[in-house]
Amino acid sequence: MASLLRLSSALALVTGAGSGIGRAVSVRLAREGATVAACDLDGAAAHETVRLLGGPVIEAQAPRGNHAAFQADVSETTAARRLLEQVQACFSRPPSVVVSCAGITRDEFLLHMSEDNWDKVIAVNLKGIFLVTQAAAQALVSSGCHGSIINISSINGKVGNMGQTNYASSKAGVIGLTQSAARELGRHRIRCNSVLPGFIATPMTEKMPQKVKEKVTGLIPMGHFGDPEDVADVVAFLASEDSGYITGASVEVTGMRPAWGGRGQRSGTQII
Ligand SMILES: NC(=O)c1ccc[n+]([C@@H]2O[C@H](COP(=O)([O-])OP(=O)(O)OC[C@H]3O[C@@H](n4cnc5c(N)ncnc54)[C@H](O)[C@@H]3O)[C@@H](O)[C@H]2O)c1
Repeated sequence: MASLLRLSSALALVTGAGSGIGRAVSVRLAREGATVAACDLDGAAAHETVRLLGGPVIEAQAPRGNHAAFQADVSETTAARRLLEQVQACFSRPPSVVVSCAGITRDEFLLHMSEDNWDKVIAVNLKGIFLVTQAAAQALVSSGCHGSIINISSINGKVGNMGQTNYASSKAGVIGLTQSAARELGRHRIRCNSVLPGFIATPMTEKMPQKVKEKVTGLIPMGHFGDPEDVADVVAFLASEDSGYITGASVEVTGMRPAWGGRGQRSGTQII
């Protein structure tokens, strides 16, 4: 891993920071010098991430310069707004880097998809990103600060996936939301980009049956699942000024996405 210090003046808010990609992103941004506000629905997991960063474990009360943990459900309007207020109150400035990693799956084939599973996935994966992006952008614009907003989508938002009409729709929505936000916020020097991971080894993909994992792996040209750190590398680049003229982009981190067809596709569900 590169030992760069590209983010030494950044305050980074990471949602979904208690696990998988969000935790790896928190670790990477902190190593690059950022102060991290780690948020998760699971407050204890967010605290554990902050502990890994070497900071004090004080919810929403960290003195400037230290990392802090926050518990919030990003799909709830008041909670998302309160999160941004708390982060701003805690650090006396809005986050200049915002990475939305919070996400869930509720896989079912379209013919059986319950309205509840549709609504839950859209609420967390798409509305949650809308709420956090909007609140963060409002805070940045009103304080005249520039920033970098990075939303974690999925390659399945581009190519779809069996058993994931809800998830793929939410992730396609994230791409459109991020591109539109980039157009609106460019004049405020706020860049917005999305990252489209393929199959990454996290608790989310641990649920996949072993047989499906093996089939999927055989279809990935790089021959293996990615690590959360592979996604974190790209997020760190997009957070930094090394990507200063990149906005509205959707960056694929897939080891080159699997070429679906025939037997690989039949085993459908629990594929991110
Ligand atoms: N793992 C993959 O292969 C993969 C591939 C493509 C995209 N993604 C996306 O990357 C992101 C991170 O996924 P992961 O694999 O690290 O999953 P994960 O399950 O390990 O972590 C997701 C985290 O989000 C948190 N979370 C869930 N609902 C929340 C809410 N309402 N408010 C706040 N936090 C909430 C969870 O508590 C958890 O800590 C997700 O958006 C996921 O869709 C993952």
